[in-house]
Amino acid sequence: MTSRHADSNGEMTVTRDDLVALLNEDLAREYQAVISYVIYSQVLKGPQYMNIAAELEKHAAEELSHALTLAGQIDYLGGMPIATPKPVKTSSEADAMLRFDLEAETETIHHYRQRVRQCEALGEYAIAEHIRDILVQEQDHQVALASALGIEVPNATKAKTPLHDEHSRINAGITRDV
Ligand SMILES: [Fe+2]
Ligand SMILES: [Fe+2]
Repeated sequence: MTSRHADSNGEMTVTRDDLVALLNEDLAREYQAVISYVIYSQVLKGPQYMNIAAELEKHAAEELSHALTLAGQIDYLGGMPIATPKPVKTSSEADAMLRFDLEAETETIHHYRQRVRQCEALGEYAIAEHIRDILVQEQDHQVALASALGIEVPNATKAKTPLHDEHSRINAGITRDV
């Protein structure tokens, strides 16, 4: 296995093959987001949720366009876009649905911030630019959900859940805080 090392920012150096695998993880999260927004936007009931339900419908369309962008970039890198979404959490409680979405957006932002740095480290500036554009919309989604819940926007610098998928592969043998 090729050796991996952390740069001065503690970021892992990735290969192009790693980047394809990581973008496929991102794509699986985008599919998950499309599915959850399709469902939640239609089942949220009650006058207090009307605005956010309409907002979630817009998010669904934006997540689909993110998925198309990622699939295009994976193809450009010579990879095959993944066909399976990450599991979608469901609930009959409006509040829980919004919280699931907020957690997912926060996690997604965390991953995309890393991805921009990884793309740039590989000299893939155009892919980094595409991800920056996606990131702007993900942050808007995060803000919309936090304000619908009446809470502070969570800090996405650290992921809530450990990033086993990418870190176990890329950081093999290397320990650091995530
Ligand atoms: Fe997205
Ligand atoms: Fe989003």
